[in-house]
Amino acid sequence: MKSKIPNPPSNPPFVPSPKHGLKVEGRASGPKGKSRHAGLREKIERRRARVAILGLGYVGLPLAIEFAKAGFPVIGIEIDPARVGMLRRGRSYVQDVPSTELAPLIHDRRLVPTGECDRLAGADVVIICVPTPLRKTKDPDLSYIVRAVEEIARFRRRRQLIVLESTTYPGTCDELILPFLEKDGAAVGRDFFLAFSPERVDPGNPRYGTKNIPKIIGGITRQCTALAGLLYGQVIEKVHPVSSTRVAEMAKLLENTFRSVNIAMVNEMALICDRMGIDVWEVIRAAATKPFGFMPFYPGPGLGGHCLPIDPLYLSWKARVHNFEAHLIEIAAEINERMPEHVLGLLRRTLNRRRRCVRGAPIAVLGVAYKRDVGDTRESPALEIMRMLIRDGALLSYADPYVPSLECEGRRLRAARLTPAFLRRQECVVIITDHRAFDYEAITRHAKVVVDTRNATRNLPRELRKRVVTL
Ligand SMILES: NC(=O)c1ccc[n+]([C@@H]2O[C@H](COP(=O)([O-])OP(=O)(O)OC[C@H]3O[C@@H](n4cnc5c(N)ncnc54)[C@H](O)[C@@H]3O)[C@@H](O)[C@H]2O)c1
Repeated sequence: MKSKIPNPPSNPPFVPSPKHGLKVEGRASGPKGKSRHAGLREKIERRRARVAILGLGYVGLPLAIEFAKAGFPVIGIEIDPARVGMLRRGRSYVQDVPSTELAPLIHDRRLVPTGECDRLAGADVVIICVPTPLRKTKDPDLSYIVRAVEEIARFRRRRQLIVLESTTYPGTCDELILPFLEKDGAAVGRDFFLAFSPERVDPGNPRYGTKNIPKIIGGITRQCTALAGLLYGQVIEKVHPVSSTRVAEMAKLLENTFRSVNIAMVNEMALICDRMGIDVWEVIRAAATKPFGFMPFYPGPGLGGHCLPIDPLYLSWKARVHNFEAHLIEIAAEINERMPEHVLGLLRRTLNRRRRCVRGAPIAVLGVAYKRDVGDTRESPALEIMRMLIRDGALLSYADPYVPSLECEGRRLRAARLTPAFLRRQECVVIITDHRAFDYEAITRHAKVVVDTRNATRNLPRELRKRVVTL
């Protein structure tokens, strides 16, 4: 069935200027002076270019939706058959993608999910959105990218535009992907185009999504940048071209390292304040009144998610390859990684004051997702804290409106309902993730004592705050 092409969106598309390369003929020119990428450019402009997205997770699925909504025919290639099955039934597993938005696109075959990589052969554009985790040794694990590139090389067609969105270290595109794609004599800028465009999505953010977060784009050649800019300009409000894939790769790592280092600094501040008996939250509130030169970051139980605990280590690893020790990045990661242990210490101290110990104590962890108002538990510090509590013999339960069940230390746990009776039974309640759906007043009223790692109870009346121990 043919895709329906909706009206163009109101945002003006990316208009390439000579500095972006589209007017530059150079080695991409054909025999009659017509640029070799003219056909692809025209397809993109007319939204006829077939877009294949490899990896339909938190990043790939929202992107596939944007392209499909803009009228591009989209093939979503996903190796997890359970995910493909859900998508085919029009059901979304990504919180920011409502099924009501997904289902019509699937029904009209504007977005076709599949597990078959040979569908790449029909694509004009391939966007890679696969995971980039760490190995156990904390080195980058690029095996997903390598596999994706192998599939692309196997089924590729001429003049394809290939864009990597997965977060990675500078040099991935030109040192790893480019030589692989040029192995069979194909030349970038002539036979294919390669660019990096980091995904900056912030799951659960109601204000900024795929469409209105500016898109950084860096190609191997200027034509690569221009074509990728033209493509994203069709669906994203603002694109920001840069001079190379390395700049684009590094920009993403700068953003995430900035957050990791600042959070580590404020976590360290919380540890110092704890020793000195000072309320770190009040300190931050006071410092944040400065109208310039200060940006508040907040302490917490540790970093989670697919980005902050991982991406800065991609950078420090690559720096080491260049004989440079990124001390600040490594120390920041270390401080953040130790926060779950600090939370456990706080909990032990709190129980001790009540002449109790962890072993045999009913303890409830509130919020297990890695951040507020999402259901993603990847790398969540709550899991580490729960593992430690189970090993210490706590009678552990948890509540999270976004995570109905989870596996921890070989046990399957189901989310508890926060009834007054349940809360009263707990020796201690620990707030790890400050979901807005929790009723903090009721929690604090019924619990014997609350350890609050997020200062979620800050606005409660003074008599309730007496039962709260903050980080
Ligand atoms: N989640 C975020 O908030 C976020 C934000 C910015 C950047 N990123 C980066 O984007 C990338 C993807 O992250 P994510 O959160 O979407 O991961 P994810 O695990 O949610 O999704 C990745 C998907 O790719 C699939 N996959 C793996 N190899 C494949 C292959 N060869 N072919 C087809 N499908 C394949 C997996 O089955 C999975 O469904 C990572 O590099 C991540 O660091 C993530």
